[in-house]
Amino acid sequence: MSKSPMRVAVTGAAGQIGYSLLFRIANGDMLGKDQPVILQLLEIPDEKAQKALKGVMMEIDDCAFPLLAGMTAHSDPMTAFKDIDVALLVGARPRGPGMERKDLLEANAQIFTVQGKALDAVASRNVKVLVVGNPANTNAYIAMKSAPNLPAKNFTAMLRLDHNRALSQVAAKTGKAVADIEKLCVWGNHSPTMYADYRFATVAGQSVKDMINDQEWNKDVFLPTVGKRGAAIIEARGLSSAASAANAAIDHVRDWVLGTNGKWTTMGIPSDGSYGIPEGTMFGFPVTTENGEYTIVQGLEIDEFSRERINVTLKELQEERDGVKHLVG
Ligand code: NAD
Ligand code: LMR
Repeated sequence: MSKSPMRVAVTGAAGQIGYSLLFRIANGDMLGKDQPVILQLLEIPDEKAQKALKGVMMEIDDCAFPLLAGMTAHSDPMTAFKDIDVALLVGARPRGPGMERKDLLEANAQIFTVQGKALDAVASRNVKVLVVGNPANTNAYIAMKSAPNLPAKNFTAMLRLDHNRALSQVAAKTGKAVADIEKLCVWGNHSPTMYADYRFATVAGQSVKDMINDQEWNKDVFLPTVGKRGAAIIEARGLSSAASAANAAIDHVRDWVLGTNGKWTTMGIPSDGSYGIPEGTMFGFPVTTENGEYTIVQGLEIDEFSRERINVTLKELQEERDGVKHLVG
């Protein structure tokens, strides 16, 4: 018997990430090739944005996706989020050349207060929320705080793009295949302060750290390359990353819903106090997932260098949180 459809809301659906994301969701890349989906698409009420959204929906129609069981356009989160099982909160202003993520804080914070309240009011009580719009961790924190009737664990932020970037850099450095690298993770904020950590990573049981054996490369090449990759793409393309961001969003939700089979991935999640990160901080952690639930990988040694890096990214998140205190009470 075929499964009943899952309702997926995507905000900013007419934007660049939306254009790389919606077709893949409708194709079954995110929730499985046997899982029908209903897309509930939100854009701002602006006539141009709504018209562009209609155009994207026409193209989705033209793909005749067998798994697409329905699709609606919205300008109000209260209707877009009705009964949804998954929310991809992408809609926000992207960073332009020369801007830091902090510059987006005030501009985008308001959006996530309104959307958090709407999720609280009308979404499924089991809704899985992924915040992509920047600054992603703090926006996810705002949405979580604005939805007191939903479990805090349902709110997550996207660190998966940083994770995938780190994987690809480590693969290039070691000459190993991405698919063979396990136990890599990224701690903290989706920003240049994130701490990508390959100390525990292995390829066929062999230590990646021993293979690389170059702390200078880690500090002076690897971490800045991964941390500043978003800015490098903006500089090269004149636009922020879109297809790789959409791909990371698909990876994040797919792994959350369908499980990682014991493998590690990275998710931005509300801390439970693990590794000294204050409870409730929306922080990138190494996790495994099973049956729709994530679990933080425990018992990892945090050496002095790592503790310093983790403290820097934590401090930035705490400053961002202080900057939006007036919005979350
Ligand atoms: P874009 O400008 O192409 O599209 C954003 C869309 O969101 C626009 O169509 C806009 O009308 C819409 N929008 C704005 N406010 C909205 C609201 N309140 N409700 C619904 N829709 C709304 O931008 P993009 O390139 O698609 O990027 C979207 C966001 O994702 C940006 O904040 C960007 O910085 C962020 N991003 C995050 C990551 C990550 O790894 N977390 C990676 C890349 C981009
Ligand atoms: C990225 O990491 O590519 C995005 O967050 C876009 C940005 O502003 O860096």
